[in-house]
Amino acid sequence: MNIGIDLGTTNTVAGWMNIYGNIEFLEFDDGRTVLPSCVFFERGKTIVGSQAQTLASENPAAFVCDSKVFMDDRKKFWECGGKRYKAEDISLEILKKVKDTLKKRFPDEKSFDAVVTVPAKFGEDQIKRTASAVKRAGIGLIEIIKEPVAAVLAFNDSSFRPGETVYVIDFGGGTVDAALVELTGTDGVTGFNVTAAGGNRHLGGKNLDEAICSILLEQFRECSGQDLTDDAVTWGTSRKKIRNLILTASQELKKQLYKNPNEAACLELNEVCSVCERKDSCSCGCSFKAEISYDEYLSATDEIYEVLKELIVSDEVMEHGADHVIFTGGMSADPYLRQFISSVFENSDVIFAGDVCRGESYLTTIARGAAIKACDRNIHIVNKLLNSLGLICRGKNGKYMDSVISAGTDIDSNFEERHIYTNNGRFETELRFEVYEYSGDPEDFENLEYRKAGEFVFNDITPADTGKQRIETVFRFDEQGVLTVSASDLNNNGRSIEVSFEI
Ligand SMILES: Nc1ncnc2c1ncn2[C@@H]1O[C@H](COP(=O)(O)OP(=O)(O)OP(=O)(O)O)[C@@H](O)[C@H]1O
Ligand SMILES: [Mg+2]
Repeated sequence: MNIGIDLGTTNTVAGWMNIYGNIEFLEFDDGRTVLPSCVFFERGKTIVGSQAQTLASENPAAFVCDSKVFMDDRKKFWECGGKRYKAEDISLEILKKVKDTLKKRFPDEKSFDAVVTVPAKFGEDQIKRTASAVKRAGIGLIEIIKEPVAAVLAFNDSSFRPGETVYVIDFGGGTVDAALVELTGTDGVTGFNVTAAGGNRHLGGKNLDEAICSILLEQFRECSGQDLTDDAVTWGTSRKKIRNLILTASQELKKQLYKNPNEAACLELNEVCSVCERKDSCSCGCSFKAEISYDEYLSATDEIYEVLKELIVSDEVMEHGADHVIFTGGMSADPYLRQFISSVFENSDVIFAGDVCRGESYLTTIARGAAIKACDRNIHIVNKLLNSLGLICRGKNGKYMDSVISAGTDIDSNFEERHIYTNNGRFETELRFEVYEYSGDPEDFENLEYRKAGEFVFNDITPADTGKQRIETVFRFDEQGVLTVSASDLNNNGRSIEVSFEI
């Protein structure tokens, strides 16, 4: 069975096309089609989703959320129940939950194969790690596609025509994607070329939640005398619980404000009082009331909004314009940005996913697009390579640096780039290849800041005089949209040894 999965920072959604050609979404334990992307580890048990959220305040140290924003951080891990989890391990637990729920819903299905989405700004190593989590979860991987393409697929009805461009702004919990997608095709739209991808991998709704949280923590300090704002402090359990409860309340207040900006949003946080150490001396009378007006919210978040506005009016989109604009993601409920987008793109057809879909389904746009792709092999996607890719080849006689594929190159499945390397010194038998992603001028690779995406060591190379060895490396994007880099020894009597890179 083919499915589409939006593995989001805050929420994960899975969908499929039913026999009538409509997209349906998987319901999780709480009856919702949206699975909060969070995990709670408890005595050997792993709990995923809304139940994990409920348990979070009991033991914040055993709770992990928003892990996707750390997908590019090799040093970040969470230690829970004596085990270390990296971001991809948390994705694995979420995907296992999706698979288990699918299995319950479709007990007769032998396998589940998925199109999985990633942010447009995800680098090749993050894509590779996501792909590996999908496979480890026992889900077949059809393809990894970029979230903005999925958004366009979700709205690709008769109003979209070949030759037009769609500007997608996907504002989620942890990332903002802003991508320009060119539509191609002869009989209707079947080709989707991502011609520009901007955005921010570390900015999302959670930053606005944190801004509200700072205001509430100040209100709590005034009321109880307890200062929970200092991040350098290691708080006791009850203080951690209070902070978590206040952060959850911030998310709720944000929703209230977006729904009705004319009224102050407020919540009574009795739970906070029940764990508060100073409940006897505190002035709130055991009923801490968190309150925030829309104006207070805007003044606390103006720096974030400046960054967002700059990112939305990127040079590419302002230069080329867009026939259609799609504003999607959980944060597309934001009235401030809706107004901003309407005024900047007054000559375009602006689609607010929240208006088009009903209920919570604007959270399902990306999974809808992924599910459509999972069932239609005629859809052709081309991505412009976001960062350049380069290689450093190290032998015992020094290193050699080479830029391999430049940023902006059109990449579709089965794209290949081959390079041949030779030895700097006599009789080298071992070479280390390091794959890098970098931005900037490829000619100036040696002076750039770059990020290692992976490496491999090639042993037992046929010994040969300086300059006589011939090691061919192949950078290849496979059918699943995942980069593989391999190397072969062309001198080895024509027999090639293949080594794939590990991340
Ligand atoms: N009705 C609403 N009003 C205000 N904010 C909302 C509403 N619904 C969801 N959100 C916010 O949207 C964000 C989650 O959006 P979404 O589900 O699109 O993120 P995601 O896809 O998990 O993240 P990403 O795309 O960054 O990986 C959260 O910050 C949440 O607070
Ligand atoms: Mg998303």
